[in-house]
Amino acid sequence: MVSKYFRLAARRAASRRLSNVVLLRGEALYLIATLLPAGMARTVHVYFPDPWPKSRHHRRRLLDPRTVDLVLALLDPQEGRLFFATDHLEYGEAVAETLALHPAVEMERVDGAWPEGPRTNYEAKFEREGRPIIRLAARLRGGRPASLLHPAGRDDLLVGPAGGRRASPGVLQAASGGSGSEDPRTQRIDQESSASRTSS
Ligand SMILES: C[S@@+](CC[C@H](N)C(=O)[O-])C[C@H]1O[C@@H](n2cnc3c(N)ncnc32)[C@H](O)[C@@H]1O
Repeated sequence: MVSKYFRLAARRAASRRLSNVVLLRGEALYLIATLLPAGMARTVHVYFPDPWPKSRHHRRRLLDPRTVDLVLALLDPQEGRLFFATDHLEYGEAVAETLALHPAVEMERVDGAWPEGPRTNYEAKFEREGRPIIRLAARLRGGRPASLLHPAGRDDLLVGPAGGRRASPGVLQAASGGSGSEDPRTQRIDQESSASRTSS
């Protein structure tokens, strides 16, 4: 949330004397990973998040095979709902696929507008402009806690450091002892590490 809207939301909450509002401003995945308790949310709303269109930036997306489990873990296992909308159709289809392939998730597409109308300023503006919008609603299948990994996310967790080099930050070193250089997944991480060293 940019600071202008953060201050606006804080002013509105104060002027309405709302006592059940907590505003946090920061990098969403960082806040989820470090601060917000698992299972805390009856509803998670994700509307028009940055689509990060370049494929090398997809891992920064809030909902991606590598990040989706962090977001799903916020949901109350019984009642939790995730709502998502975007006008970026490629990103919307990728999120639909990520959720549809997730073994712990039931996902449905919402045809047309939400029953109560636009939920955010961007949505109201894009609806006025007649832009197509993808809307999704998801819940945990059978009230399971979100402990299952998305199949594609698993790849990023189960790689070890290549040839004694340090693994990329954020990558768990689940493999024990292997040099791993023959493992294509390890080579991929290795190449990414080299690329990021070259570009920094
Ligand atoms: C296109 S705006 C949509 C705003 C609002 N959700 C709406 O629908 O009107 C995207 C917002 O997401 C915020 N944002 C983007 N990436 C973020 C991240 N990683 N963590 C937290 N906020 C982020 C931006 O600051 C911006 O306020």
